[in-house]
Amino acid sequence: MGVFYKNFVKPLIFRLDPEKAHEVAVDALSLLSHMPFVPKLMANLNQLGNDYAPVEICGIDFPNRVGLAAGFDKNAVCWPAFEALGFGHVEIGTVTLLAQPGNPKPRMFRYPEHQAILNRMGFNNDGAEAVAQRLSRTLSKMDRRIPLGVNIGKSKAAPLDEAVEDYKGSFQLLADFADYVVINVSSPNTPDLRKLQEETRLRELLSTLVSLNLERDQQPGQSRKPIFLKVAPDLSLEQLDAIIATLLELNLDGIIATNTTMAREGPFENIDEPGGISGKPVDAMSTEIIAHAAKTTSGNLPIIGVGGITDPDSAKRKIDAGASLVQIYSGMIFEGPFLGKRIAKALV
Ligand SMILES: Cc1cc2nc3c(=O)[nH]c(=O)nc-3n(C[C@H](O)[C@H](O)[C@H](O)COP(=O)(O)O)c2cc1C
Repeated sequence: MGVFYKNFVKPLIFRLDPEKAHEVAVDALSLLSHMPFVPKLMANLNQLGNDYAPVEICGIDFPNRVGLAAGFDKNAVCWPAFEALGFGHVEIGTVTLLAQPGNPKPRMFRYPEHQAILNRMGFNNDGAEAVAQRLSRTLSKMDRRIPLGVNIGKSKAAPLDEAVEDYKGSFQLLADFADYVVINVSSPNTPDLRKLQEETRLRELLSTLVSLNLERDQQPGQSRKPIFLKVAPDLSLEQLDAIIATLLELNLDGIIATNTTMAREGPFENIDEPGGISGKPVDAMSTEIIAHAAKTTSGNLPIIGVGGITDPDSAKRKIDAGASLVQIYSGMIFEGPFLGKRIAKALV
């Protein structure tokens, strides 16, 4: 399958502008998601099956260790297709409270020679209300085996001082539909977002969301959801230690490491295109963050490892560093939609 993608599909897709290619892929996968029988049939062929023990993290059963990272299905329109392709979970979003168009185009660039993507999308999405309605419709009709993560971020229009209220609104609208919720404070393309990784602001944000989450246990038909924090690869180890201390103090459920990097190293030194880089250049950085987080918490804080996974070996390095699950995005652009299944098999 990988050979077919590389020889026939990829040359066609790579002729298109990267964002256009992404839209075509999302449309095709959305079509697949809505077909009768076909997704279930494909899932039966591509999921690993009951001979492979599922992985349990935070009380959730994941049929395998490989998920789709946030940013591919921002609006929750095609995520069921990923179960059909053999993925073990999907994270939709980032969703913001307010619908927003994102940054001006072009805002996504490929660097195939470095297996890298640069993007400055800026959280283009339909907004929490619309995504909640879409999820409500899809989930009521679906019999699914893979967990769904919902990744939320700050609306561009919300000033930093109103960020807590903004995240709160998204959490209230979307938590019902999520198996786990991700608080994204690490995308480089929303001004000031990464400031929410600083200790005081982070504690204020997370403690509010944790209280809100605990209140869910008192509401009929609701329950608390595991909450993960998604961090940047550009943190110093001291900054990471401070974040981990806050997560442990507030009993957060886990960490997702990492988002895209702002660093411009090696072949990217002279590229002054603004945005976050993903794919190969972020691989070692994110593995280092995972290893440090696993060591500091003695393996007691679940970690989802993401950044630069392009093959089974790069995924194994993240698992060896301490990740329980991994996610992919850029690797799939270069290697094709069955990369998730290939890695999941290799990780058993
Ligand atoms: C085009 C693009 C859009 C992205 N959008 C989001 C997003 O909305 N929210 C988020 O948390 N991460 C987003 N990411 C980051 C990915 O989820 C992932 O953390 C990062 O790309 C590193 O993984 P990779 O090297 O496998 O791509 C995006 C990445 C790309 C390439």
